[in-house]
Amino acid sequence: MGLPFRSLTMLLLLLLIWWSTSEAQTLRALDAILQDYAYRAFHRPRTGRPYDGVPPANLSGIQISALRLRSGSLFTRGVRQYKQFSIPVGVIGTPYVERLVLVYQNLGNWSTTYYPLPPGYMYLAPVLGLLAYDASNLSATNLEELDIYASEDPISIEFTQVQPVRDARCVWFDLDGRINFTKVVSGNKCLTYEQGHFSIVVESTAPSPAPVPQPHQGGGGRVGLLVGLYSVGLHCWCCWHC
Ligand SMILES: *[C@@H]1O[C@H](CO)[C@@H](O)[C@H](O)[C@H]1NC(C)=O
Ligand SMILES: *[C@@H]1O[C@H](CO)[C@@H](O)[C@H](O)[C@H]1NC(C)=O
Ligand SMILES: *[C@@H]1O[C@H](CO)[C@@H](O)[C@H](O)[C@H]1NC(C)=O
Ligand SMILES: *[C@@H]1O[C@H](CO)[C@@H](O)[C@H](O)[C@H]1NC(C)=O
Repeated sequence: MGLPFRSLTMLLLLLLIWWSTSEAQTLRALDAILQDYAYRAFHRPRTGRPYDGVPPANLSGIQISALRLRSGSLFTRGVRQYKQFSIPVGVIGTPYVERLVLVYQNLGNWSTTYYPLPPGYMYLAPVLGLLAYDASNLSATNLEELDIYASEDPISIEFTQVQPVRDARCVWFDLDGRINFTKVVSGNKCLTYEQGHFSIVVESTAPSPAPVPQPHQGGGGRVGLLVGLYSVGLHCWCCWHC
């Protein structure tokens, strides 16, 4: 009698793993599309000047921008203001390239579709992304991100439209969509030493609502299912182990 339950638990765990890898692939595919469309904004670009791009029509509501820089200048001078990001001196990209592009993403109304939050959390601002790529071929697609890290002060992100709220937290997603929370500084700023996607969230005191199916494919509905599967999984696990 134990065996079917154990197999069910195993199956659910496998499903969970499969689901989270496919989530990560969805996110990687989105980053690749946005890199492509951000690069299209370059037309004989001047170094150090941001160019706003136009995302494909099926992703309207997202804002993208691209800024080409010499690695040396990024390291010695930083970028005082690139949209909501302030990049201090000391930022290093690896592997070394002579010029790099910083792609900016503002996911706007797509934030919860692509980056759903754990139950009980609510976004106070859209998800913003900052990702670094090699600038040697501005027609290139499917580029891998460079690794960038701030070797001195952190990069700061200011969410100007966010009013200081008690219990607000910064949320940070790495390139695989892994989530991490950090503290908000100066009421509406988040700090990071790495690239990724960022926003400010608050724990909503209201009981978490039933997952609402999203009109557009992707994260939201899936996460509801994921949470459901997960609790079923835990429940079965508990039948036998708790
Ligand atoms: C949106 O359009 C782009 C370009 O036509 C395409 O590559 C992509 O697969 C489409 N779908 C999504 C969800 O981005
Ligand atoms: C976001 O808004 C745009 C219009 O600005 C719309 O076309 C798009 O479907 C919306 N996306 C979502 C996920 O609601
Ligand atoms: C740049 O990338 C495009 C698209 O992948 C490719 O067709 C082209 O050959 C590349 N150019 C150089 C100089 O590598
Ligand atoms: C989250 O951030 C903390 C503090 O920087 C760090 O110690 C921890 O390893 C991070 N977790 C993940 C999953 O990246």
